[in-house]
Amino acid sequence: MDAQEVIDSIQSIYDRFEVPQNLRLHMLRAAAVAGIICKNWKGPRINKDEIVAGALIHDLGNIVKFDMETTVGRRLLKGLPKKELARLRKLRARAIRKYGEDDHKATERMAKEAGVNGRIISMVSPHDGSYVDPKVMKARGWTFKVFAYADYRVSPFGIMSLRGRVAEAKNRVVAKVSGGGKSTLYDHLGSILPVGLLLEEEIFKHTSISPRQINDNTVQPYIDKYQRNRFIGAIIVRNGEFLAEIRRKDEDLCPGETWIPGGHIDPGETAKHAFIRETKEELDVIPKKYYRLCTRIWRYGGKRYPIDYFVCTKYSGRIRSKEAERVVWLKNSETRKLDADVDRSAIKAYLSKGK
Ligand SMILES: [Fe+2]
Repeated sequence: MDAQEVIDSIQSIYDRFEVPQNLRLHMLRAAAVAGIICKNWKGPRINKDEIVAGALIHDLGNIVKFDMETTVGRRLLKGLPKKELARLRKLRARAIRKYGEDDHKATERMAKEAGVNGRIISMVSPHDGSYVDPKVMKARGWTFKVFAYADYRVSPFGIMSLRGRVAEAKNRVVAKVSGGGKSTLYDHLGSILPVGLLLEEEIFKHTSISPRQINDNTVQPYIDKYQRNRFIGAIIVRNGEFLAEIRRKDEDLCPGETWIPGGHIDPGETAKHAFIRETKEELDVIPKKYYRLCTRIWRYGGKRYPIDYFVCTKYSGRIRSKEAERVVWLKNSETRKLDADVDRSAIKAYLSKGK
Protein backbone atom coordinates (compact mmCIF):
# COMPACT_ATOMS: atom_id res chain seq x y z
CA MET A 1 0.00 0.00 0.00
CA ASP A 2 1.52 3.32 -0.96
CA ALA A 3 0.82 6.55 0.93
CA GLN A 4 -2.24 7.53 -1.11
CA GLU A 5 -3.76 4.09 -0.61
CA VAL A 6 -3.17 4.31 3.14
CA ILE A 7 -4.95 7.69 3.23
CA ASP A 8 -7.84 6.39 1.13
CA SER A 9 -8.37 3.26 3.15
CA ILE A 10 -7.47 4.52 6.61
CA GLN A 11 -10.93 3.89 8.04
CA SER A 12 -10.83 0.28 6.85
CA ILE A 13 -7.42 -0.11 8.47
CA TYR A 14 -8.84 1.26 11.74
CA ASP A 15 -11.89 -0.99 11.44
CA ARG A 16 -9.75 -4.02 10.72
CA PHE A 17 -7.79 -3.63 13.97
CA GLU A 18 -10.83 -2.27 15.84
CA VAL A 19 -8.83 0.82 16.82
CA PRO A 20 -10.70 2.57 19.66
CA GLN A 21 -12.30 5.92 18.80
CA ASN A 22 -10.01 8.02 21.03
CA LEU A 23 -6.94 6.52 19.38
CA ARG A 24 -8.36 7.11 15.90
CA LEU A 25 -8.94 10.71 16.84
CA HIS A 26 -5.37 11.06 18.10
CA MET A 27 -3.94 9.84 14.81
CA LEU A 28 -6.41 11.91 12.77
CA ARG A 29 -5.32 14.99 14.72
CA ALA A 30 -1.63 14.29 14.09
CA ALA A 31 -2.40 13.80 10.39
CA ALA A 32 -4.33 17.07 10.39
CA VAL A 33 -1.41 18.98 11.95
CA ALA A 34 0.82 17.40 9.30
CA GLY A 35 -1.73 18.30 6.63
CA ILE A 36 -1.78 21.99 7.58
CA ILE A 37 1.99 22.22 7.61
CA CYS A 38 2.23 20.46 4.24
CA LYS A 39 -0.38 22.78 2.74
CA ASN A 40 1.61 25.84 3.84
CA TRP A 41 5.07 24.42 3.19
CA LYS A 42 7.50 26.61 1.27
CA GLY A 43 10.71 24.72 2.01
CA PRO A 44 12.70 21.90 0.39
CA ARG A 45 10.82 19.03 -1.22
CA ILE A 46 8.92 16.79 1.19
CA ASN A 47 6.72 13.76 0.58
CA LYS A 48 3.40 15.17 1.75
CA ASP A 49 1.31 12.03 1.26
CA GLU A 50 3.86 9.96 3.15
CA ILE A 51 3.81 12.38 6.08
CA VAL A 52 0.02 12.31 6.33
CA ALA A 53 -0.17 8.52 5.83
CA GLY A 54 2.49 8.01 8.50
CA ALA A 55 0.65 10.23 10.96
CA LEU A 56 -2.59 8.35 10.28
CA ILE A 57 -1.05 5.03 11.33
CA HIS A 58 1.72 6.02 13.73
CA ASP A 59 0.04 4.77 16.91
CA LEU A 60 -1.98 1.86 15.52
CA GLY A 61 -0.62 -0.47 18.19
CA ASN A 62 -1.12 1.85 21.18
CA ILE A 63 -4.04 -0.20 22.46
CA VAL A 64 -1.46 -2.58 23.98
CA LYS A 65 -0.19 0.14 26.33
CA PHE A 66 -3.52 1.82 27.00
CA ASP A 67 -4.07 1.56 30.71
CA MET A 68 -7.71 2.16 31.56
CA GLU A 69 -7.12 2.35 35.28
CA THR A 70 -5.09 5.58 35.22
CA THR A 71 -6.56 9.04 35.74
CA VAL A 72 -6.13 9.86 32.08
CA GLY A 73 -7.50 6.49 31.01
CA ARG A 74 -10.61 7.07 33.08
CA ARG A 75 -10.99 10.59 31.72
CA LEU A 76 -10.73 9.39 28.14
CA LEU A 77 -13.25 6.64 28.68
CA LYS A 78 -15.68 8.71 30.75
CA GLY A 79 -19.28 8.09 29.82
CA LEU A 80 -18.64 4.86 27.93
CA PRO A 81 -21.11 2.08 28.72
CA LYS A 82 -19.81 -0.87 30.79
CA LYS A 83 -20.22 -3.20 27.84
CA GLU A 84 -17.92 -1.03 25.72
CA LEU A 85 -15.31 -0.93 28.49
CA ALA A 86 -15.37 -4.73 28.71
CA ARG A 87 -14.98 -4.90 24.93
CA LEU A 88 -11.93 -2.61 25.06
CA ARG A 89 -10.37 -4.70 27.81
CA LYS A 90 -10.77 -7.85 25.74
CA LEU A 91 -9.49 -6.10 22.64
CA ARG A 92 -6.36 -5.00 24.48
CA ALA A 93 -5.68 -8.50 25.83
CA ARG A 94 -6.11 -9.95 22.35
CA ALA A 95 -3.81 -7.32 20.80
CA ILE A 96 -1.11 -8.04 23.41
CA ARG A 97 -1.32 -11.76 22.68
CA LYS A 98 -1.05 -11.21 18.96
CA TYR A 99 1.32 -8.24 18.65
CA GLY A 100 3.20 -8.18 21.96
CA GLU A 101 3.39 -5.66 24.80
CA ASP A 102 5.68 -3.14 23.12
CA ASP A 103 3.49 -0.49 21.47
CA HIS A 104 6.08 0.42 18.81
CA LYS A 105 6.51 -3.18 17.76
CA ALA A 106 2.75 -3.69 17.80
CA THR A 107 2.33 -0.68 15.49
CA GLU A 108 4.98 -2.02 13.16
CA ARG A 109 3.45 -5.50 13.08
CA MET A 110 -0.06 -4.20 12.43
CA ALA A 111 1.11 -1.85 9.68
CA LYS A 112 2.99 -4.73 8.05
CA GLU A 113 -0.06 -6.95 8.30
CA ALA A 114 -2.17 -4.25 6.63
CA GLY A 115 0.37 -4.15 3.79
CA VAL A 116 1.65 -0.61 4.44
CA ASN A 117 4.76 0.27 2.43
CA GLY A 118 8.02 -0.31 4.36
CA ARG A 119 9.23 3.29 3.99
CA ILE A 120 6.19 4.59 5.84
CA ILE A 121 6.62 1.95 8.54
CA SER A 122 10.25 2.85 9.18
CA MET A 123 9.31 6.53 9.31
CA VAL A 124 6.72 6.01 12.05
CA SER A 125 8.86 3.61 13.98
CA PRO A 126 12.47 4.81 13.80
CA HIS A 127 15.07 2.82 15.69
CA ASP A 128 17.72 5.51 15.86
CA GLY A 129 16.42 7.61 18.74
CA SER A 130 15.56 10.45 16.38
CA TYR A 131 12.66 11.58 18.53
CA VAL A 132 14.91 12.56 21.40
CA ASP A 133 18.43 12.89 20.10
CA PRO A 134 18.92 16.38 18.65
CA LYS A 135 21.89 15.27 16.55
CA VAL A 136 20.00 12.42 14.93
CA MET A 137 16.95 14.59 14.43
CA LYS A 138 19.09 17.20 12.71
CA ALA A 139 20.42 14.63 10.28
CA ARG A 140 16.95 13.40 9.42
CA GLY A 141 15.18 14.63 6.30
CA TRP A 142 12.34 17.14 6.24
CA THR A 143 9.71 14.49 5.60
CA PHE A 144 10.52 12.84 8.90
CA LYS A 145 10.86 16.14 10.74
CA VAL A 146 7.40 17.37 9.76
CA PHE A 147 5.91 14.00 10.67
CA ALA A 148 7.61 13.94 14.09
CA TYR A 149 6.63 17.51 14.86
CA ALA A 150 2.98 16.80 14.06
CA ASP A 151 2.99 14.00 16.63
CA TYR A 152 4.56 16.27 19.28
CA ARG A 153 1.67 18.69 19.02
CA VAL A 154 -1.11 16.22 19.84
CA SER A 155 -2.08 15.37 23.41
CA PRO A 156 -4.79 12.84 24.26
CA PHE A 157 -7.17 15.80 24.58
CA GLY A 158 -6.37 17.83 21.52
CA ILE A 159 -3.78 20.03 19.87
CA MET A 160 -1.43 21.82 22.24
CA SER A 161 1.62 24.04 22.10
CA LEU A 162 4.87 22.12 22.53
CA ARG A 163 5.44 23.40 26.06
CA GLY A 164 1.85 22.64 27.02
CA ARG A 165 2.13 19.21 25.53
CA VAL A 166 5.26 18.25 27.45
CA ALA A 167 3.83 19.63 30.72
CA GLU A 168 0.63 17.63 30.17
CA ALA A 169 2.55 14.45 29.38
CA LYS A 170 4.71 14.92 32.48
CA ASN A 171 1.62 15.22 34.64
CA ARG A 172 0.31 12.06 33.11
CA VAL A 173 3.48 10.15 33.95
CA VAL A 174 3.50 11.46 37.51
CA ALA A 175 -0.14 10.48 37.92
CA LYS A 176 0.66 7.01 36.66
CA VAL A 177 3.58 6.29 39.01
CA SER A 178 2.13 5.36 42.36
CA GLY A 179 2.52 8.00 45.05
CA GLY A 180 3.14 10.65 42.43
CA GLY A 181 6.86 9.80 42.11
CA LYS A 182 8.86 10.41 38.98
CA SER A 183 10.23 7.88 36.53
CA THR A 184 12.87 7.76 33.84
CA LEU A 185 10.06 8.41 31.39
CA TYR A 186 9.64 11.74 33.15
CA ASP A 187 13.22 12.68 32.30
CA HIS A 188 12.70 11.39 28.78
CA LEU A 189 9.78 13.76 28.33
CA GLY A 190 11.93 16.61 29.59
CA SER A 191 14.49 15.84 26.90
CA ILE A 192 11.85 15.90 24.17
CA LEU A 193 11.10 19.59 24.68
CA PRO A 194 14.44 21.04 23.49
CA VAL A 195 14.39 18.77 20.42
CA GLY A 196 10.81 19.72 19.72
CA LEU A 197 11.47 23.46 20.07
CA LEU A 198 14.43 23.23 17.75
CA LEU A 199 12.34 21.35 15.27
CA GLU A 200 9.57 23.92 15.53
CA GLU A 201 11.95 26.76 14.84
CA GLU A 202 13.39 24.99 11.78
CA ILE A 203 10.04 23.94 10.35
CA PHE A 204 8.33 27.29 10.66
CA LYS A 205 11.12 29.02 8.79
CA HIS A 206 9.74 27.14 5.80
CA THR A 207 6.01 27.64 6.27
CA SER A 208 3.67 30.52 5.67
CA ILE A 209 1.92 29.98 9.04
CA SER A 210 2.96 30.13 12.68
CA PRO A 211 2.73 27.32 15.28
CA ARG A 212 -0.14 29.17 16.95
CA GLN A 213 -2.23 28.94 13.83
CA ILE A 214 -2.37 25.21 14.34
CA ASN A 215 -5.07 24.51 16.89
CA ASP A 216 -8.21 22.43 17.41
CA ASN A 217 -10.28 24.77 15.24
CA THR A 218 -7.93 25.00 12.30
CA VAL A 219 -7.27 21.23 12.16
CA GLN A 220 -10.96 20.30 12.07
CA PRO A 221 -11.48 20.65 8.29
CA TYR A 222 -8.50 18.33 7.77
CA ILE A 223 -9.91 15.74 10.16
CA ASP A 224 -13.21 15.94 8.29
CA LYS A 225 -11.41 15.47 5.00
CA TYR A 226 -9.70 12.26 6.13
CA GLN A 227 -12.99 10.91 7.42
CA ARG A 228 -15.35 12.19 4.76
CA ASN A 229 -16.83 10.75 1.64
CA ARG A 230 -16.40 7.11 2.31
CA PHE A 231 -18.89 4.60 1.06
CA ILE A 232 -19.76 0.96 1.43
CA GLY A 233 -20.98 -1.39 -1.26
CA ALA A 234 -23.21 -4.36 -0.39
CA ILE A 235 -22.72 -7.35 -2.68
CA ILE A 236 -25.70 -9.58 -1.91
CA VAL A 237 -25.25 -13.02 -3.46
CA ARG A 238 -27.63 -15.93 -4.06
CA ASN A 239 -27.31 -19.01 -6.30
CA GLY A 240 -24.53 -17.71 -8.51
CA GLU A 241 -26.14 -14.30 -8.89
CA PHE A 242 -25.60 -10.93 -7.26
CA LEU A 243 -27.95 -8.07 -6.64
CA ALA A 244 -27.73 -4.72 -8.41
CA GLU A 245 -30.03 -1.73 -8.33
CA ILE A 246 -31.20 0.53 -11.11
CA ARG A 247 -30.98 4.06 -9.78
CA ARG A 248 -33.94 6.41 -10.06
CA LYS A 249 -34.08 8.80 -13.03
CA ASP A 250 -34.41 11.85 -10.76
CA GLU A 251 -31.28 11.02 -8.75
CA ASP A 252 -28.59 13.78 -8.81
CA LEU A 253 -25.77 11.29 -8.95
CA CYS A 254 -25.59 8.77 -11.82
CA PRO A 255 -29.37 8.70 -12.60
CA GLY A 256 -30.73 5.53 -14.21
CA GLU A 257 -27.44 3.67 -13.84
CA THR A 258 -26.97 0.12 -12.59
CA TRP A 259 -24.96 -0.05 -9.38
CA ILE A 260 -24.17 -2.37 -6.50
CA PRO A 261 -26.35 -1.14 -3.57
CA GLY A 262 -24.55 0.94 -0.99
CA GLY A 263 -24.21 4.36 0.56
CA HIS A 264 -22.30 6.77 2.77
CA ILE A 265 -20.49 5.85 5.94
CA ASP A 266 -21.70 8.34 8.54
CA PRO A 267 -19.14 10.16 10.74
CA GLY A 268 -18.18 8.02 13.72
CA GLU A 269 -19.67 4.91 12.11
CA THR A 270 -17.60 1.85 11.17
CA ALA A 271 -17.81 0.46 7.64
CA LYS A 272 -19.46 -2.69 9.01
CA HIS A 273 -22.20 -0.72 10.75
CA ALA A 274 -22.79 1.36 7.64
CA PHE A 275 -23.09 -1.85 5.60
CA ILE A 276 -25.71 -3.30 7.95
CA ARG A 277 -27.61 0.00 8.16
CA GLU A 278 -27.58 0.68 4.42
CA THR A 279 -28.65 -2.87 3.59
CA LYS A 280 -31.64 -2.49 5.87
CA GLU A 281 -32.45 1.01 4.61
CA GLU A 282 -32.15 0.23 0.92
CA LEU A 283 -33.20 -3.39 0.66
CA ASP A 284 -35.17 -4.03 3.85
CA VAL A 285 -33.10 -7.08 4.84
CA ILE A 286 -30.69 -7.76 7.67
CA PRO A 287 -27.35 -9.37 6.77
CA LYS A 288 -26.75 -12.57 8.73
CA LYS A 289 -23.62 -13.97 7.09
CA TYR A 290 -21.19 -11.55 5.51
CA TYR A 291 -17.54 -10.63 5.21
CA ARG A 292 -15.48 -7.63 4.18
CA LEU A 293 -14.19 -8.10 0.66
CA CYS A 294 -11.99 -5.17 -0.40
CA THR A 295 -11.62 -1.41 -0.73
CA ARG A 296 -11.80 0.08 -4.21
CA ILE A 297 -11.45 3.72 -5.20
CA TRP A 298 -14.27 5.41 -7.05
CA ARG A 299 -12.93 8.28 -9.16
CA TYR A 300 -15.55 10.88 -9.81
CA GLY A 301 -15.36 14.57 -10.72
CA GLY A 302 -11.59 14.61 -10.22
CA LYS A 303 -11.91 13.21 -6.68
CA ARG A 304 -11.25 9.84 -5.09
CA TYR A 305 -13.84 8.13 -2.92
CA PRO A 306 -12.98 4.85 -1.18
CA ILE A 307 -15.73 2.22 -1.20
CA ASP A 308 -15.52 -0.70 1.24
CA TYR A 309 -17.26 -3.70 -0.26
CA PHE A 310 -18.92 -6.39 1.81
CA VAL A 311 -20.26 -9.69 0.54
CA CYS A 312 -23.47 -10.95 2.13
CA THR A 313 -24.27 -14.63 1.63
CA LYS A 314 -27.21 -14.89 4.00
CA TYR A 315 -29.83 -12.40 5.16
CA SER A 316 -33.17 -12.34 6.89
CA GLY A 317 -36.26 -10.75 5.38
CA ARG A 318 -37.41 -10.30 1.81
CA ILE A 319 -35.54 -8.02 -0.54
CA ARG A 320 -37.51 -4.94 -1.42
CA SER A 321 -36.15 -1.94 -3.28
CA LYS A 322 -36.76 0.96 -0.92
CA GLU A 323 -34.66 3.67 -2.53
CA ALA A 324 -33.76 2.62 -6.06
CA GLU A 325 -36.08 2.40 -9.07
CA ARG A 326 -35.85 -1.40 -8.83
CA VAL A 327 -33.41 -4.19 -8.07
CA VAL A 328 -32.20 -6.92 -10.43
CA TRP A 329 -30.33 -10.18 -9.93
CA LEU A 330 -27.36 -10.40 -12.29
CA LYS A 331 -25.56 -13.60 -13.18
CA ASN A 332 -21.87 -13.67 -12.30
CA SER A 333 -21.23 -13.55 -16.05
CA GLU A 334 -23.18 -10.28 -16.38
CA THR A 335 -20.73 -8.09 -14.48
CA ARG A 336 -20.40 -5.80 -17.52
CA LYS A 337 -23.98 -4.61 -16.96
CA LEU A 338 -22.75 -2.63 -13.97
CA ASP A 339 -22.15 0.99 -14.96
CA ALA A 340 -19.28 1.79 -12.62
CA ASP A 341 -15.72 0.50 -13.06
CA VAL A 342 -15.38 0.45 -9.32
CA ASP A 343 -18.29 -2.02 -8.91
CA ARG A 344 -17.02 -4.22 -11.72
CA SER A 345 -13.59 -4.32 -10.09
CA ALA A 346 -15.15 -5.36 -6.75
CA ILE A 347 -17.21 -8.13 -8.37
CA LYS A 348 -14.05 -9.32 -10.09
CA ALA A 349 -12.33 -9.49 -6.69
CA TYR A 350 -15.31 -11.44 -5.34
CA LEU A 351 -15.31 -13.93 -8.23
CA SER A 352 -11.56 -14.42 -8.07
CA LYS A 353 -11.94 -15.49 -4.45
CA GLY A 354 -14.14 -18.26 -5.72
CA LYS A 355 -16.87 -17.69 -3.16
FE1 LIG B 1 1.16 9.87 18.69
